Amino acid sequence: MTAKDQIDKDKLPKHLAVIMDGNGRWAKQKGLFRSMGHENGTKAVREIVEACAEINIPYLTLYAFSTENWNRPKIEVELLMKLLVSSLKKEIKTLHDNNIKLNAIGNLEALPKKAQRELKDVIDKTKENSRMTLTLALSYGSREEIIKTIKEISHKVKNNLISPENIDETVINNHLYTQNLPDVDLLIRTSGEQRISNFLLWQIAYAELYFTDTLWPDYRKNHLFEAILNYQKRERRFGKTSEQLK
Ligand code: IPE
Ligand code: IPE
Ligand code: MG
Repeated sequence: MTAKDQIDKDKLPKHLAVIMDGNGRWAKQKGLFRSMGHENGTKAVREIVEACAEINIPYLTLYAFSTENWNRPKIEVELLMKLLVSSLKKEIKTLHDNNIKLNAIGNLEALPKKAQRELKDVIDKTKENSRMTLTLALSYGSREEIIKTIKEISHKVKNNLISPENIDETVINNHLYTQNLPDVDLLIRTSGEQRISNFLLWQIAYAELYFTDTLWPDYRKNHLFEAILNYQKRERRFGKTSEQLK
């Protein structure tokens, strides 16, 4: 039986998030420029989007560019932005044909105008799609998101639209970039690094974490199916005892 066949369809993560890491090291190992790592990373993106659609995972969120990534050499940042635009252009039809809705989170206004336009275009064209929501985290940083949230809520308090006593998890959730997404169930990071790197800090409060040494450009459907099988073997207790769950 293949890994895919062993997956329990009733125990799928509703929201899968992925920190796609290792493009640079993949290229270096092969004596190539980092740019080749990023280009080959787009193949892995396609594989994982398809894999999630095949097994019916409703929400997939991919960490594509962090607020900290702006500090990389200018030439690499430019290449990543160009790659974003060309990938969006190339994939729009496939996304639409597969009934996938594109969404984006992050400080999108920091992106080059061309990337903003392309992104908006794909988001508009796919907005009625319902099979899966694919969210790209672009110029995304969890701390920036939390600061934005606090500012917005503070303004509402100041204008008497909300009282401090009524601030709860729902109010906070409703002000995050991820307001339309459920909490993350499974977070995968490739490349062997075991850190969160400012990704979805609030939203992963009870996520299962899965780290793999595979470098992102080598990541294929079967790797994902293995990660899901691993996730399905875990007991998610949410603070309760094991007996309580029985
Ligand atoms: C992930 O690969 C892609 C982005 C962060 C944009 P890296 O570029 O971080 O690759 P490594 O970590 O240097 O190998
Ligand atoms: C995290 O990877 C960001 C993305 C995958 C987009 P990085 O490669 O930027 O993270 P650090 O710097 O190693 O923590
Ligand atoms: Mg990295």
